[in-house]
Amino acid sequence: MIDDMAYILLTRQQLSNKVKELGERLTRDYAGKYPLMVCILKGSIVFFADLIREISIPVEIETMTASSYGSATVSSGVVSVVSKLDDKIAGRDVILVEDIIDSGRTLAFIKSDMMGKGVSSLKVCTLLDKPSRRVADIKPDYVGFEVPDAFVVGYGLDFDQKYRNFPEVGVLKPEIYTKNV
Ligand code: IMP
Ligand code: MG
Repeated sequence: MIDDMAYILLTRQQLSNKVKELGERLTRDYAGKYPLMVCILKGSIVFFADLIREISIPVEIETMTASSYGSATVSSGVVSVVSKLDDKIAGRDVILVEDIIDSGRTLAFIKSDMMGKGVSSLKVCTLLDKPSRRVADIKPDYVGFEVPDAFVVGYGLDFDQKYRNFPEVGVLKPEIYTKNV
């Protein structure tokens, strides 16, 4: 996989330091509460697994599937939410955990869907943020790193379902994603 990367953007060490820092902030901010942390599949799975273990208060976890991407590297703009958590979020302090916010459409859709369902609070924690590409009006409450407008993979993020198991965040060589599309 390393041969398909133009360069490594975030190393294992940078990722783990940041995840630790986010975990400490969440621990402080949610002290005395029992938040419901929602892993937005599949991209957040690696970040989520590391993040929850850096939080030292009890949390409940759930997963949901949302997607606005086919196998292309640009957002289709069509968001589908597969598993809804309608019966689980009323009265809860919900933390949505995302891998990356790009156009913001995915989160805008999920947030507006959840807001009407009686959540006590709703915050967004994203590992990566690409603010330069924002279309929807979404501001994450917790951000790991701001990244440039490049297609990144690894640490859960994919291109065409590949590279999720690459342990660092890398920028893919353009020839990889222009080859077959
Ligand atoms: P948005 O709805 O445009 O904000 O899209 C967010 C989703 O698109 C993320 O959860 C990712 O799954 C995917 N995505 C956006 N940018 C990238 C990228 O650079 N690499 C891999 N996936 C990405
Ligand atoms: Mg995603």
